[in-house]
Amino acid sequence: MKENYVVCHCKKVSYFDIADALHEMKSFDDVLKTFEEVKKVTRCSTGCGGCHDKVLDIISELMMSKEGV
Ligand code: FES
Repeated sequence: MKENYVVCHCKKVSYFDIADALHEMKSFDDVLKTFEEVKKVTRCSTGCGGCHDKVLDIISELMMSKEGV
């Protein structure tokens, strides 16, 4: 289990918020589409945009770990 931490400081979105948002989704075939959805749900990456790459990394990491299950 990963530790929680704030990924997006502008919108106070944490790693767990992103993981939760991914849980709500049914398909994970497209990282960028999923990113848009996560953005809508959590509001992450809607401020300065500085967390963009971090959020994308987390999404791809979570998507990959899901595929393995
Ligand atoms: S840190 Fe996420 S939008 Fe600024």
